[in-house]
Amino acid sequence: MKVLRSLYLAALTGTLALGGSAQALVFDPATGVKGTLQLPDGRSVSYTGYEKIFYVEQVEDPAYQYLNIYVPEGAGPKAPIFLRTYVGGYMASAAAAPQATDASGRALAEGFVVAIPGTRGRNSVIKADENYAQAHPGVSVGDEIYTGRAPAAILDLKAAVRYLRHFASKIPADANHIITDGTSAGGAMSALLGATGNRPEYEPYLKAMGAAAEKDDVFASVCFCPITDLEHADMAYEWLYSGTSSRQSLDEQHRAYSQELAALYPQYLNSLKLKTPDGKVLNADNYLDFLKAQLIRAAQLAKDAGAEIPQDIGFSFSSSARGGFAAPVDGKAPTGEPGAGPDKSKDGLPPRGSPQLGEYITALDLAPYLDYVVSTQPLKTVPAFDSLIAGVNEPSGENGEFGDASGSNVNFTAFSAGKNDSEVSAEVKTNLSLLNPLHFVDDKKTAVAPHWYIRHGARDRDTAFTVPLNLYLKLKERGEDVNFLLAWNRPHSGDYSLNELFSWLKEILKQPAGKAKK
Ligand code: DHB
Repeated sequence: MKVLRSLYLAALTGTLALGGSAQALVFDPATGVKGTLQLPDGRSVSYTGYEKIFYVEQVEDPAYQYLNIYVPEGAGPKAPIFLRTYVGGYMASAAAAPQATDASGRALAEGFVVAIPGTRGRNSVIKADENYAQAHPGVSVGDEIYTGRAPAAILDLKAAVRYLRHFASKIPADANHIITDGTSAGGAMSALLGATGNRPEYEPYLKAMGAAAEKDDVFASVCFCPITDLEHADMAYEWLYSGTSSRQSLDEQHRAYSQELAALYPQYLNSLKLKTPDGKVLNADNYLDFLKAQLIRAAQLAKDAGAEIPQDIGFSFSSSARGGFAAPVDGKAPTGEPGAGPDKSKDGLPPRGSPQLGEYITALDLAPYLDYVVSTQPLKTVPAFDSLIAGVNEPSGENGEFGDASGSNVNFTAFSAGKNDSEVSAEVKTNLSLLNPLHFVDDKKTAVAPHWYIRHGARDRDTAFTVPLNLYLKLKERGEDVNFLLAWNRPHSGDYSLNELFSWLKEILKQPAGKAKK
């Protein structure tokens, strides 16, 4: 099957015909179908939907490689385009209609043209037909071909962006204002769309697929809990969590793996040469203080909005200092109301009541906080993303993502490959880099989206907090406009706080495309 894979790649890079059915790219306004979407707030939006539009000429997987476009009533050539990807778990994702309860429906109601592309993913398969078998020596008619292993999904999404740009004037919509949105692996895809605009590394693949010969940079990228930087996600995870009590209860072998992985991360973190948004050097020695500040900011925002922050998850509050620190932001002194906590009159100071609305959070002890995160959802195994011996141990989804068209599961980190007495192949390394926005954002030549909205739940343990934070910091350092928050009390989820998101979109859309940098 290795032969199969290299032939498949040869096909992709244009030295062989793909063997799929070829068809010209078209957008036919006459195919529009009218519909109405009812939003939870009672709003009703009428639209014209254009469905099942293939976005490449060489369609390899007709179940996925098409997009749906919805144009709300009244939209014209200035309508921004909201591209929602439903990729999750690096799996295939079918094109869909806007959903009343997520950002796609909301976007439609706000006058955006909504585009929802399907994409191949790690589990999409086709049966080889005669054409395919002919174009791929070693493949027989009827063989199962995995169509969506890395980097297929991002190629499909880029092809969809190019399609939208190609036909924007017919749709009609403003291709200079494409906003992408996704969650988790879909958040990673949105991040990639934002971070890899017009990069030549994707060009040969896109050309072979018959994508429109257009640019593929976008105006804004909305990323909820992006599961990205897969090369380093395992070490990041253990660096953050190896000290938690749940990791102490692992068997000796896995505890050792956890510590081994954790020890690998500082070197990588330092190699990123990060800076805080106000320009201070950030490295493995002071990064946790930065993380704490981000978590305190998240908790404080929530607290000021009325949320109760539990007493026992590591935060200190200004009333603990009882007059010694600073007045609460509502101007009232900490009072020590009836119902005082366990420290009642212990030290002769006024007893402490439940924390007051407006109180300051003064500090965070990270150890109990991380234990709290883990108490809301158990940690992933060690390693969190790769598996130790792909094909022997239970493979992870990501092992499949980096496998080949035969459906193989493949190690993609030096750590896990090493435990299997092997190495990460050059091909897998290429695919990893094509899936990692951090590889491109440092390069001034990349057409990076000028606007970013990145959210990661403050109790989301699907990847380490450092993963979205590093993306944020790199984008900030580049001078992009980044709205970042570890959203308080959010688990691994997306498309929340839509009022806030759409207010932000309204603001950025007042700015001309490509003019975000200060
Ligand atoms: C997703 C979640 C994960 O924990 C992961 O490893 C990959 C993808 C997801 O929800 O898309």
